[in-house]
Amino acid sequence: MKRLGFSVFFIALTFILMAGSPLMAQSDMMLLDSSKGRAGKKRPPVPFPHNLHVEKGWSCKDCHHLYEKGENILDESTLEEGNKEIQCSACHGPKSRLHLERAYHGQCLGCHKKPLKDREKAPPRYCGGCHVRK
Ligand code: HEC
Ligand code: HEC
Ligand code: HEC
Ligand code: HEC
Repeated sequence: MKRLGFSVFFIALTFILMAGSPLMAQSDMMLLDSSKGRAGKKRPPVPFPHNLHVEKGWSCKDCHHLYEKGENILDESTLEEGNKEIQCSACHGPKSRLHLERAYHGQCLGCHKKPLKDREKAPPRYCGGCHVRK
């Protein structure tokens, strides 16, 4: 119980510190946390510049999916703020073969590790590049 209290405090603190950092100046910055405040989180939550990725030319369905017979049939109009069904955790739960940590690493790193195109800025590939310690 003590540990849980501590990590809730720590996450709150991270938010407070983040609010004052230049990272937060970008309004689309999401803070991804697969543990949602549960005890035992091993790495700091991950700041994710969502819209930057869209601006770089990726489409919604490169990351968001609803598979039917192996095909991504997602209706993009369901991609709305607050829709719990589009959250990765809705399907990649703790019992899922592709649990949340794997789903995130698979998606983020699967793309970040691709060879760079000309003059593209290198996306973060190492632990500390995504799990930014504050
Ligand atoms: C590079 C990957 C990527 C791309 C491209 C992308 N998204 Fe996302 N999006 C994510 C991730 C990761 C989350 C966090 C999901 C979660 O919290 O479970 C997210 C969350 C969201 C949310 C939920 C926000 C909230 O807090 O409720 C919406 C809405 C959304 N995306 C819409 C879109 C739309 C519309 C597009 C296309 C214009 C798009 N996304 C493109 C990765 C992406
Ligand atoms: C509606 C349910 C659902 C949602 C929401 C969902 N997934 Fe998936 N995801 C699946 C299914 C089903 C598969 C394919 C079956 C499998 O491999 O377990 C899959 C496969 C994947 C894969 C394997 C490669 C691929 O694309 O097929 C990755 C990586 C992944 N999901 C990451 C994510 C991330 C990150 C999010 C949140 C942005 C997310 N998923 C949201 C159901 C979902
Ligand atoms: C489909 C490809 C793709 C996916 C999926 C993806 N990224 Fe990226 N990401 C990129 C590229 C390319 C860049 C470099 C953009 C540039 O030129 O500045 C980048 C840049 C970044 C940056 C650095 C931004 C900056 O200001 O320098 C962060 C942080 C980041 N990604 C986090 C994530 C996280 C976290 C996820 C998973 C939730 C993710 N990305 C998923 C392609 C992707
Ligand atoms: C491209 C970005 C990216 C890189 C690089 C990355 N991760 Fe993650 N990782 C994520 C995201 C996004 C999540 C889900 C959000 C969270 O819980 O922090 C996650 C979740 C985790 C989790 C589960 C949650 C927790 O903290 O217990 C662990 C453990 C983890 N990562 C360890 C690592 C380690 C170790 C490395 C280096 C070998 C690494 N990650 C590199 C993006 C990344």
